[in-house]
Amino acid sequence: MSTNWPPKFLFAVCQCGAEQALKHEVAAGPIDASLAFSRPGFVTFKLKDEINEPEQFQLPSTFARASGFSLGKVSGESAQDLAQLSWQLPGVEAFLADQSIVDLHVWQRDTAVPGVRGFEPGPTALSLTIERVLREQAPVEPLRTMPTAPRPPSRRNRWVLDVVVVEPGEWWLGCNHTTRRLDCYPGGVLPLELPDHAVSRAYLKMQEALQWSALPIARGELCVELGCAPGGASQALLEHGLRVLGVDPAEVDPVVLAEEQFTHIRRRSTEVRRKQLRGVQWLAADMNVAPNYTLDAVEEIVGNELANVRGMILTLKLADWKLANELPKLVERVRGWGYRDVRTRQLAFNRQEVCLVALRSRGQRRVKRIGRRMLRRDSTHGSKLVEPHFPTSPPPDRGEEAE
Ligand SMILES: C[S@@+](CC[C@H](N)C(=O)[O-])C[C@H]1O[C@@H](n2cnc3c(N)ncnc32)[C@H](O)[C@@H]1O
Repeated sequence: MSTNWPPKFLFAVCQCGAEQALKHEVAAGPIDASLAFSRPGFVTFKLKDEINEPEQFQLPSTFARASGFSLGKVSGESAQDLAQLSWQLPGVEAFLADQSIVDLHVWQRDTAVPGVRGFEPGPTALSLTIERVLREQAPVEPLRTMPTAPRPPSRRNRWVLDVVVVEPGEWWLGCNHTTRRLDCYPGGVLPLELPDHAVSRAYLKMQEALQWSALPIARGELCVELGCAPGGASQALLEHGLRVLGVDPAEVDPVVLAEEQFTHIRRRSTEVRRKQLRGVQWLAADMNVAPNYTLDAVEEIVGNELANVRGMILTLKLADWKLANELPKLVERVRGWGYRDVRTRQLAFNRQEVCLVALRSRGQRRVKRIGRRMLRRDSTHGSKLVEPHFPTSPPPDRGEEAE
């Protein structure tokens, strides 16, 4: 094992503007690390202590969209030269010698805030060109082939070599272990595009939230969405097989209103009648209000005995970046309602906001995995999916049974 392993530096990429929030949460967190280098959307830290089990290591962070160990940087004029320097970098050579790696992730740091002037995170013409050049020169065979589009996720629980294009002539090399679902995508960005039928960009946020959180949602279950207008997020929820009660005093797009499984309650969240929420199992909220106001509205529904909210996806708006420091308190508030599995992430398609997902227990996730296996076995026998059923009273919480 080389003395360069595990590396002494970490890198993290985040939304442009989120660097301070990221630095603050790393400083307040359990890892002893000092700030090393920072550009908009890209931050590195120097570790004070050696990491004992690098495969297990995760940077606990809401704002780091992707992170890993930093292996150094290269600077130069042409992509050919930079690729050559990259493969010769001592940190990269040591990494390749010691670890079996499965993939190469190349991406550009964000150049703007998502959703502003058409910018969306994801592969760019430059990152794809650089990836091609790097692969042509790769010293190990499995990395020489460019993945075909749509790019499949890298295999789970393996090492990946990362190249972050901080500037066209300045690349930072690193590595990450594909422990979690989003670690398998370059820069932690799911390959999502806004389809023509989507009535708002919130469609992307909700698709990303659903894929990241992997909530154990079953077809036909009932979800309430607070702040649903004009309806992009509701479209994503409907595509996941949910029935949606959309609450918003503003107008919902006719395309969404025409959906059979969508009902618009044209009111403020505080004006919804208790019995209108009978049988609600999931809750989403995306209101342009302060985080504590969103939580007040959510608490009202969670406390309604006619609803049985198993889990939720909340967008918490950070009108001021200082509100990021309040996140631990907001998470504690949600935990206080009996949701033991609470996670936060600034999604790639979030703007100045974060996503909070909560489930009553981790056991609910196990139910989904078992459910998935059963689904595959059934389908090979040609049997149909269970048709959606619409209970008039809340079903038992299967997650609690699973524990
Ligand atoms: C960011 S937009 C929601 C986007 C929407 N989720 C979509 O998918 O298109 C915020 C919405 O919150 C709504 N809103 C603000 N305060 C609200 C409240 N107290 N109750 C319900 N909706 C509210 C606004 O009317 C606005 O439509």
